[in-house]
Amino acid sequence: MSENHASKAPACTAVVGLQWGDEGKGKIVDLIAPDHDAVVRYNGGANAGHSVVVKGERFSLHLIPSGILYPSKLAVIGNGVVLDPGKLLEEMDGLRARGVDTSGLIISSRAHVVMPYHKAEDAAREDALKSERLARSGGENPGVSEIGTTRRGIGPAYAEKVTRSGAVRVGDLLDPESLRSKIELAIAGKRKFLADQPGAAEFLDAARITEWAASAGEAIRPMVQDTTYLLNNLVRSGRKLLFESANGTLLDVDHGTYPFVTGSSCAVAGIGTGTGVPVQRVGRVVGVMKAYSTRVGAGPLPTELAGPGPEGVTGDRIRNRGREFGTTTGRPRRVGWLDLVAVRYSAMINGVTSIALTMLDVLAGFETVRVCTAYRLGGKQTDRFTPDGATLGAVEPVYTELPGFSEEIGAARSRTELPARARSYVEFIEQAVGVPVDIVSVGPDRAQTITA
Ligand code: GDP
Ligand code: IMO
Ligand code: MG
Repeated sequence: MSENHASKAPACTAVVGLQWGDEGKGKIVDLIAPDHDAVVRYNGGANAGHSVVVKGERFSLHLIPSGILYPSKLAVIGNGVVLDPGKLLEEMDGLRARGVDTSGLIISSRAHVVMPYHKAEDAAREDALKSERLARSGGENPGVSEIGTTRRGIGPAYAEKVTRSGAVRVGDLLDPESLRSKIELAIAGKRKFLADQPGAAEFLDAARITEWAASAGEAIRPMVQDTTYLLNNLVRSGRKLLFESANGTLLDVDHGTYPFVTGSSCAVAGIGTGTGVPVQRVGRVVGVMKAYSTRVGAGPLPTELAGPGPEGVTGDRIRNRGREFGTTTGRPRRVGWLDLVAVRYSAMINGVTSIALTMLDVLAGFETVRVCTAYRLGGKQTDRFTPDGATLGAVEPVYTELPGFSEEIGAARSRTELPARARSYVEFIEQAVGVPVDIVSVGPDRAQTITA
């Protein structure tokens, strides 16, 4: 039979975040990785921070797929990722120092490289937006805001990819001649905007940057491959791939709350472009969602719990119980009640087949909890999400109040061990989204998980 025809049901799995990132994707990837042969990142870069906790030991992964903690698995960085070589080498060193075998790591020769000038550009754009917002803040609505990026150079690196001429791919790092001319082109285009930025003498020095980039290339050379053929050959020989999304569906550059989004296709559709593996090879799509909402950076969060009143107190309580501080930047995450309008939309965009619900333990101790089941916009009620940042900023959430549960649930290992009110919360989500919750996470540790 032709190898282009799959004879069996699609064997690959995708793990994708259904909110604004930090849903617990790292934990869920780690949990289901044993059923797969390779874990593959397809989007984003070092803006991601995925935590895995094994027997109390915490690992924070940024560029390296969470499957790296299993020595027998391949961990693949696909072409859709933007790779900061300095951060990658740092992360590898950190893992090795803790006894993790990183020999299964493979990097696509076609992944784009985040260069020092991309990070400077990210910071300069954010600073310029901030100044503009402050300058206009005498007016009622400044109409402009910084995005609140991680300043890891993600947006400018993806912009360079689309601009093409000065873009550097991982494969280029291995060829210093063409590398130098690409870097010169890129720098020529940026000099005017970045000349006054701190450190400009270094990051706008083409010779210096070429030397740095070429030496990073030498360090990663043994890991660089054509991952498109590698991954497709694995699939054809019956191996199972696990795709690990970075960021979240509501941060997706097309389907997220634009312009408050990241630069990549975080949703499942990004697997096709970000790896070269056809999306129809993915049979199982696990949507990861928290039992409430969080967001880091600017942009609308309709159910946000903030301010000096009781809502802010509730928000602080959830933030502290959930240790909602960024894995990558340490910033406090904004917190809100669960937004089922948003989650239903994300489930639709991704064709989610099951849900992994995380952080349920964080909600213990509330007499009642609220979930947003519709929005009110312009005097009308709607159950539709709007990914337009400005419009979403204007919606008012319509809440359903549910009974809370007082008991701590971190030790529960089956659904029947959960208090009846916690079970009802899970069932409410299943009903509202129309997708079964297969996994309930009741704590950060690998063991604190209910799968039955
Ligand atoms: P990711 O970016 O989606 O992988 O998520 P992060 O790792 O950035 O953030 C999730 C945080 O919650 C991490 O600190 C995890 O260790 C932690 N975590 C994951 N699942 C649970 C859970 O069920 N309960 C609690 N309390 N913490 C969790
Ligand atoms: P993981 O994979 C949470 C947010 C940033 C900012 C916006 C754009 O850990 O879930 P960027 O630096 O990407 O240009 O920032 O996107 N953001 C994330 N928020 N988790 C993430 O990744 C994120 N990656 C980007 O805070 O609002
Ligand atoms: Mg994270």
